[in-house]
Amino acid sequence: MTGVVNTVENVVEIRNLWTVFKSPDGEQVVHRDLNLVIRRGEVLSLVGGSGTGKTVLLRQILGLEHPEKGEVSVLGRPPGHFRGMAAANVGMLFQHGALFSAFSVLDNIAFPLRELKVFPDELIRDAALVKLQMVGLDPQQAAKSPSDLSGGMIKRVALARALIMDPPLLLLDEPTAGLDPESADGFCDLLSGLHRELGLTVVMVTHDLDTLFDLSTRIAVLADKQVIVTGTARDVIAYPHPFIHEYFLGGRGQRAMEALHEKR
Ligand SMILES: Nc1ncnc2c1ncn2[C@@H]1O[C@H](COP(=O)(O)OP(=O)(O)OP(=O)(O)O)[C@@H](O)[C@H]1O
Ligand SMILES: [Mg+2]
Repeated sequence: MTGVVNTVENVVEIRNLWTVFKSPDGEQVVHRDLNLVIRRGEVLSLVGGSGTGKTVLLRQILGLEHPEKGEVSVLGRPPGHFRGMAAANVGMLFQHGALFSAFSVLDNIAFPLRELKVFPDELIRDAALVKLQMVGLDPQQAAKSPSDLSGGMIKRVALARALIMDPPLLLLDEPTAGLDPESADGFCDLLSGLHRELGLTVVMVTHDLDTLFDLSTRIAVLADKQVIVTGTARDVIAYPHPFIHEYFLGGRGQRAMEALHEKR
C-alpha cells in the first residue's frame, strides 16, 4: 500500500515558480520566480506573513493547483501525477483541518482508502484502526462523531487520515493553530515521533514559534513573493530583512528564543 519508492534525494523541487491570480480588478502576483528544494527526511518549515502564498504553495505541491509558470516536482514527478494514488505519495493536514461531520472518526480516517474502491472493507477498517492508534487515540474513539472531539483530537484524526496510505511526504498547514499550549505541545511531540519513526519528509507552515523551533530541521522564509532565505533557525535569524526582524526579534519571537535556549 506504499507509494513510489522514496529514493529521490530532493523530495520536492520548485524552480522559477510564478503564481498569478487573475480577477476582474487585474492580476495578483503571489509568487515571483520562487525557488525551493526540500530534501528527504527533513522537516522544512515555511514562514511568511498572512497572504504570502504559503497555503497556495502546499496546494501546488499536492497538485491541487497549478502555477502560471515554472516547475514543481514531487518525488521526481509532476505533482498529481499519480491521480487516484495521490494519497499514497503525499499526505496533507489542511489549515482548516475539516473532517467530514457526517462521518465517524473511523470513516474519516478510512476515506482516502475507501475512495480507491479496491480494498475489502475489513482491511480498510483495520488499517484505519492502526492509524488511530498511531496518532495516540484509543479504539473507543473510532465510532465517535467529529463534533464529540476536542480540537487536539480533531487534529489527530486529520493526521491519521493524511497518513492512511503511508505517504513518504507529509504537508502540514498550521498544525497547531487554535490548540491550547498543552495540546499544541502534545501534537508537536506526536509529529516529532512520527517523523522519526516513519522517516517522513515534512513540509510545515506555521505561525507558531514554539512549533517552529520544536520541529523544524530547516526554515524557509517567504517574503517579497519569493523564498528569501532557507537554513537553520540561526541562519535565518541572521538574515537581514524587516519581516525576519519583526517575526523573530519582536516580543513574541524573543520569548520563544529564550525558551529555545533554556531547552538546549
Ligand atoms: N484560488 C484562488 N483564487 C484567487 N486568489 C487566491 C486563490 N487562492 C489564494 N489566493 C490568494 O493568494 C494569496 C495567498 O493565499 P494563501 O492562502 O496561500 O496565503 P497564506 O500565506 O497561506 O496566508 P495565511 O497565513 O493567512 O494562511 C492571498 O492573497 C489569496 O487571497
Ligand atoms: Mg494559509
